[in-house]
Amino acid sequence: MRFDILTLFPGFFDGPVRESIIGRAVANGIIEVKTWNIRDWAPGKHKTTDDAPYGGGPGMVMKVEPIALALEALSNATDAARPVVILPTPQGKPFTHAQAQQLASCERIIFICGRYEGFDERIRGLADAEYSIGDYVLTGGEIPALAMMDAVSRFVPGVLGEPESAHDESFTDGLLEYPHYTRPEDYKGMRVPEVLISGNHGRIALWRREQRIIRTLERRPELLAAAELTPEERRLVERLKGN
Ligand code: ADE
Repeated sequence: MRFDILTLFPGFFDGPVRESIIGRAVANGIIEVKTWNIRDWAPGKHKTTDDAPYGGGPGMVMKVEPIALALEALSNATDAARPVVILPTPQGKPFTHAQAQQLASCERIIFICGRYEGFDERIRGLADAEYSIGDYVLTGGEIPALAMMDAVSRFVPGVLGEPESAHDESFTDGLLEYPHYTRPEDYKGMRVPEVLISGNHGRIALWRREQRIIRTLERRPELLAAAELTPEERRLVERLKGN
């Protein structure tokens, strides 16, 4: 799978693309990440990529032409499948686990990273989808592009090793993860729950499932409506709620 990132700050991606799981996937040729400087498609001597907003107001607005030219150049550069173009923006649809999974089947994704106060509305017309990674405003689209690329890559076969992919429970069934412990058994009086050292795998599985339900109820109760629960687990939720 290939990611192309249009940005004014290509250096932003150097570390994240080299390190850890994504770095390993890149080194193994499972994913490819290319960054492109939008400024290289800016016309004129000054290579400006932004301009004052029509109608006045503070700040500058990213221009449409350099991005349109960059997309054209990238789309023509290979005969691979038509890329999916994503625009990270706080005004986009919330980016979820489901979207990450779905996008992992694309051969190519292009991210357009906006900066400054905003971008010319016509840039939206160049994208297939607009996504937000949360209800807060970041200084640009680079961090959201990285977050989405990371989440998508986890679903690309071969990116996660076996133990890591087996571990992918949160969100697939709508529940948060159970608590994890490793040695020591007693840390400053905080003990590992007895059940985990009991050696009883049936009890451990039950405890973990229950902990996931409790944790989801406490932290993200809105997820429970769509979670995959047995009738018995639904009754447990009602009991925990005090009903
Ligand atoms: N650009 C700035 N803030 C953003 C956000 N929360 N999500 C996606 N893109 C953004």
